[in-house]
Amino acid sequence: MARDSFGSRFGALVAMAGSAVGLGNLWRFPYLVGENGGAAFIIVYIAFSFLICLPIFVSEFVIGRRSQKNAFAAFRDLSGGSAWKWVGLFTVIVPLVVLSYYSVIGGWSIEYLLKSVTFSFTGGESQATMFSGFVSSTWMPLIMHTVFMLVTTLIVVIGIKDGIEKFSKVMMPLLFVMVIAIAVYSLTLPGAGRGLEYLFNPDFSKIDGHACAAALGQAFFSLSLGFGTILTYGSYVDKKENIFFQSSATAVSDLMFALIAGMAIMPAVFAFGLDPQSGPGLVFETLPFVFSQMPAGGVIAIVFFVALLVAALTSSISMLEVAVAYLVEEKRFTRVSACGVLFVLCWAVGALCSLSFGPLAGFSIAGRSIFDFFDNLSSNVLMTLGSLLTVLFVGWRLKKTDIYDEFTNGGTLSTNVKIFGVLWFLIRYVCPVAITTVFISGLL
Ligand code: PFF
Repeated sequence: MARDSFGSRFGALVAMAGSAVGLGNLWRFPYLVGENGGAAFIIVYIAFSFLICLPIFVSEFVIGRRSQKNAFAAFRDLSGGSAWKWVGLFTVIVPLVVLSYYSVIGGWSIEYLLKSVTFSFTGGESQATMFSGFVSSTWMPLIMHTVFMLVTTLIVVIGIKDGIEKFSKVMMPLLFVMVIAIAVYSLTLPGAGRGLEYLFNPDFSKIDGHACAAALGQAFFSLSLGFGTILTYGSYVDKKENIFFQSSATAVSDLMFALIAGMAIMPAVFAFGLDPQSGPGLVFETLPFVFSQMPAGGVIAIVFFVALLVAALTSSISMLEVAVAYLVEEKRFTRVSACGVLFVLCWAVGALCSLSFGPLAGFSIAGRSIFDFFDNLSSNVLMTLGSLLTVLFVGWRLKKTDIYDEFTNGGTLSTNVKIFGVLWFLIRYVCPVAITTVFISGLL
């Protein structure tokens, strides 16, 4: 049977952008900026995104499109069957770990969407109490996690062109419109200026090894790097497409989206005199309070939580697809059975993560709750390792002429021909050194 693929340039682009734009942009980026020096952090983040992450993105894309295979087979075949295939397998497994706990947060956004539809943010009950009451309960978070995993699995079962691509084509433009609308509204609130100042006033004293590691980790997470996702999506992209154009367009959209998300959230938080440094609780505790206070807040809340849910779904489907492609192509599963097995697996791990806020709160791994353990392990260690191994593979194992050929479509794309030298230098030298340095300085 012919391999499924994206049907159009726009489709491929929105699917990749959909993978990149996610909870990372709406839920993590604003609070990381807040904690790590505002614009100073943003500057470091932008530098890392384009000097380190874009070359990694291109590397994954090249491996995928060159091989037209799933992540495991891509590493195996391009390296002539060597042990590199285990790196491929590693990148198949990591997204499943992330998906498991990502789906828990996806479930929270469904719950909060329902709460906003029923106008439950009254401002009377403390939002922190509401949030901690919800996440520490047993059933509702589990049910919402199940619903989120089911929707994710359903879209992936349908396939690349008819499932993932169609969904992204409709949802991604909608997502941008929704977040821009909230940002515009939020910027008109009295006192919004202080939020902008907070976001864009640089405080370079906060930029240390820890902040750099946070910026790089966030850039990896936000661009879905080191997970085999871009590789797998890249394998469905037509040979005529321009890898550099698609990669940069994704990186730029992801960055724009994160900044717009910041401008949607921070001005509103400041307009109501709240603390922007409430960490992960920003979206689920601070914002509902803001919505309860602002004019037309009920409607804004609905739009915001729809956006959060859509952003999470277009990312979660990309994580699931990596392992589905592997099982279908390597282990002869049907698409339906692959999705079924992976659903059960991710659901079970996710259930443990969900329960770790409540009944399993006392249980810890390496001094952390189950949820924190998986989040930290994957976003601080596994993703970095995956990205490092990917650039080493492309820069030091594959043939330069093959990379050139794939990147320039056989020498026919003149801009790509011109920039190849710089890109090659970044992949071969700058990325491995930078990733290792930032990773170690973050540990210290
Ligand atoms: N990039 C997504 C976000 O910012 O939320 C997260 C993500 C998606 C990570 C896909 C990894 C992945 F494979």
